[in-house]
Amino acid sequence: MIELSLFPELDSELQDKKSSTFEDNMKLPIHRWYRYTAGFSATWVAKIIEEEILNGRTRIIDPFVGSGTVALESTMHEVEAFGLESNPYVFKIASAKLLWNHISITKIQQASRQLIQRAKEIDTSVENYPLIIRKCFPDETLLRLDALKNACLEIEEGDIKNFFWFVITSILRSTSPVGTAQWQYIQPNKSKANVLDPFAAFEKKIIEICSDIRKCSLRSSNHKALILQQDARGEVDIPDNWGDLVITSPPYANNYDYADAMRLEMSFWGDIENYKGLKNVSRHLVRACTQHVSRLKNDVFDMMESSLLEPIKEELRIKFDLLDNERKNHGGKKNYHLMIVAYFYDLAQVFNTLSKKTSEKCKMCFVVGDSAPYGIYIPVDEWLGKLALNSGFKSFSFEKLRDRNIKWKNRKHRVPLKEGRLWINK
Ligand SMILES: C[S@@+](CC[C@H](N)C(=O)[O-])C[C@H]1O[C@@H](n2cnc3c(N)ncnc32)[C@H](O)[C@@H]1O
Repeated sequence: MIELSLFPELDSELQDKKSSTFEDNMKLPIHRWYRYTAGFSATWVAKIIEEEILNGRTRIIDPFVGSGTVALESTMHEVEAFGLESNPYVFKIASAKLLWNHISITKIQQASRQLIQRAKEIDTSVENYPLIIRKCFPDETLLRLDALKNACLEIEEGDIKNFFWFVITSILRSTSPVGTAQWQYIQPNKSKANVLDPFAAFEKKIIEICSDIRKCSLRSSNHKALILQQDARGEVDIPDNWGDLVITSPPYANNYDYADAMRLEMSFWGDIENYKGLKNVSRHLVRACTQHVSRLKNDVFDMMESSLLEPIKEELRIKFDLLDNERKNHGGKKNYHLMIVAYFYDLAQVFNTLSKKTSEKCKMCFVVGDSAPYGIYIPVDEWLGKLALNSGFKSFSFEKLRDRNIKWKNRKHRVPLKEGRLWINK
């Protein structure tokens, strides 16, 4: 088993409060390669894995892999893991990080020297980039990013190409002078300080990566978590009855758009040009924002009648009506009433998947937050617990970690919210 002594010691209470945030991961080798604000604490994940190894639970599933925190900690602790991530961009990011114990430092250094060399010779152009990219990067910067991109695209298919795709993707926001904070929507009218030149940012990243691999190289065998680009709501390639520990965090019902959040990256690589392109990504995701439910109409009534939502049906219908009425008082007329039905329906499907894929001794931890669209409170932890029981799990309890929505003056509503761990047992 891996010693955690290489990681900074954190006071355990503080560590508990921060277990739902990615903040501390930016100090941890490998986790820090990509700032994924939606991620949770690797130190906390490590602690759970260590405790559960002692209880004989060594097969881990994370149905919402994100940047790969659970998968990485599983490889570092030499336990088996499966993960699911249905956003192809996020999947590629997590997959590249998991290559850390499969490609050598020498290979990375040699290939990166070749890539930089090639980028300096190659023809570049900014003409074909979409407007969003032209607004985010001055031509001079974009020419250099284009050179790195074209040099990467020339590499033959395989781990090295995927790895450099990741490195270039990971430096995009730090090389843009406009408002492109990691994992927030792009704000081309704002500017930011400390912008890096693309070649310098690329080299700096390679140095960080090699230093981290060197630091961790004593700590792992060839373990590799298997992550799949699959939708956790449906059929997935994990053996039945396999997992005995689930550690995860689903999208929260808080209107954050996990497809749109990668618009800059997808546009840079030429993978989306318009709304339809984004839709191809979002249709594989849990519906947690109003943009993803705009076409739902009568389907929500079928969902509410479905056996999947039976345990929360009446309460859900009350909130649905309240939200439907409340929206009429707001300019945006957001479809929160449709969103919450689709959200719980989707997560009920995920519980069904997990019920099939886990063993009789399985324990699950879902890091969740509740929500109050238009100020109407939705008891997310309680409803998810009930849906898990409906899928065959035996018990659940909620452990609150922190309050949300209590600090800011400009918050949209005054309903206190919380974040915590939903523990579910078979
Ligand atoms: C809260 S984030 C998980 C973050 C992760 N714990 C980490 O530390 O990076 C939720 C993730 O679930 C993914 N996701 C959303 N719907 C999904 C689905 N139906 N199947 C699989 N993954 C999904 C999103 O793309 C997002 O990356």
